[in-house]
Amino acid sequence: MVTNMRTTTLRGGVEMPLIGFGTFQIWQQEAAREAVSQALDAGYRLIDTAAGYFNEEGVGRAIRQSSVPREQIVLTSKLWPTDASYAGAKVAVQRSLNHLGVDYIDVYLLHQALGDYYGAWRALTEMQQAGYIRSIGVSNFNAGRLYDLAQFSGVVPAVNQIELNPWRQQRATRKTAAKLGTVIEAWSPFAQGRDGIFSNSVITTIAARHHVTTAQVILRWATQQGIIVIPKSVHRQRMDANLAATDFDLTEAEIAEIARLDRYPDDPGAVNSPQLIERLLAIDPAGKHE
Ligand SMILES: NC(=O)c1ccc[n+]([C@@H]2O[C@H](COP(=O)([O-])OP(=O)(O)OC[C@H]3O[C@@H](n4cnc5c(N)ncnc54)[C@H](OP(=O)(O)O)[C@@H]3O)[C@@H](O)[C@H]2O)c1
Repeated sequence: MVTNMRTTTLRGGVEMPLIGFGTFQIWQQEAAREAVSQALDAGYRLIDTAAGYFNEEGVGRAIRQSSVPREQIVLTSKLWPTDASYAGAKVAVQRSLNHLGVDYIDVYLLHQALGDYYGAWRALTEMQQAGYIRSIGVSNFNAGRLYDLAQFSGVVPAVNQIELNPWRQQRATRKTAAKLGTVIEAWSPFAQGRDGIFSNSVITTIAARHHVTTAQVILRWATQQGIIVIPKSVHRQRMDANLAATDFDLTEAEIAEIARLDRYPDDPGAVNSPQLIERLLAIDPAGKHE
């Protein structure tokens, strides 16, 4: 188990481990319970789920059954856009609490900048004040949406969870987040293994130099820049190795080399395409459960 856990503190005071555990695409409740149990045993203390992953029951069961005290675990869930309204968000947070079987959720995020997310944001601020949520943030907000919400709601999101990996480095959103004091959290830090990320010669060369794996270089590249990562794996050896990506530092030159791998340096993010929105809105977490 890793003991030298590095953390970053969110506005409002929640301390977030820089390496957490992702649970997307672990669809079955029992598989989610098993994966999260293993992750907690390995030493992960940040667990990421969402209403839209349909696995909150399994994730919650693992947390309740664990010998790790609840207050040592930072549990994140997210509001699906079909619930993005003031009234919808109040119901959805309650639904997440019920599915997870917990009294409070540490970090609750608007999953997408879709629907009446202003109304939903207002509901989340109230749920936070009422003690159901410790910290509130957003996900998949590009620089413009993030700035807009922070300015006009008057409540700056504590976190923005976005796709971030060597292929997609999200400079514009990171810059705006830094200005606002919003911590960036990287989803798909390995780009789900796409496009040969684990065999890229720039990254493998750096890995060999530090006697670590390519996966560890990718994670350290992000955390060294203050970015939280939430890699997902259902394999214990990979869980252990990913969490251990803390004991070395990349040089400035190595960070710059990886910066040059960005395939979308000017892209505000692909998450708001009309085709994707259509697909996302066809999913309804309120209507399907085991
Ligand atoms: N907010 C959002 O919209 C959003 C979207 C996507 C994801 N997320 C969150 O971010 C988390 C991580 O993203 P992700 O699951 O999409 O992808 P990811 O973490 O980039 O990649 C996961 C893939 O990499 C493999 N893997 C893990 N560790 C490895 C290692 N050390 N060496 C080689 N392969 C390894 C996993 O396989 P095995 O499991 O077989 O080991 C899995 O196929 C999600 O689980 C979810 O919590 C959020």
